[in-house]
Amino acid sequence: MLGKNVPLVTFRTRVRDESIEGPNPFRWEDKTSDDYFKGKRVVLFSLPGAFTPTCSTYQLPDFEKLYEEFKAEGIDEIYCVSVNDAFVMNAWAKAQNIDNVKVIPDGSGEFTHKMGMLVAKDNLGFGMRSWRYGAVINDGAVELWFEEEGFSDNCETDPYGASSPQNILDTLRAAKSKAA
Ligand code: BEZ
Repeated sequence: MLGKNVPLVTFRTRVRDESIEGPNPFRWEDKTSDDYFKGKRVVLFSLPGAFTPTCSTYQLPDFEKLYEEFKAEGIDEIYCVSVNDAFVMNAWAKAQNIDNVKVIPDGSGEFTHKMGMLVAKDNLGFGMRSWRYGAVINDGAVELWFEEEGFSDNCETDPYGASSPQNILDTLRAAKSKAA
């Protein structure tokens, strides 16, 4: 994956729009990979599902807490992708009080498929989802890659370590001190 460009896809997001009256002031807004990645150095992490235990207890909240530390390492944004629709992703971010991490809905799985990270999770009744991974993406190209071990369909376990914020931050810091 190192050096490869992320695929160019369109994400169907839902954004708040105060000009819309009523109880649900949101509208569709299409965003492309370029909107998210062009001209920025970002951390992307992708996980099997919104509201799932490891993702909700550790990965998403820990990225949220460590946001300023990532900024100090030259990261402009932190993105969380999942094969879930925009309604689910927004509800999950709200439930988790997320302000810093931006969630990206890959409801159709197109981005995840083109990243080569789509796996079956039919054993859990999930259908096709993302294998858990993280990456540092610099101007659309993969600079660092953090894939959990055991990539496979219908995996009985949910490995978590390589793509943790702590591991990615440690790797960024080590790379910086090696370069200094
Ligand atoms: C978890 O985050 O703990 C999890 C993810 C996918 C399936 C089951 C659990």
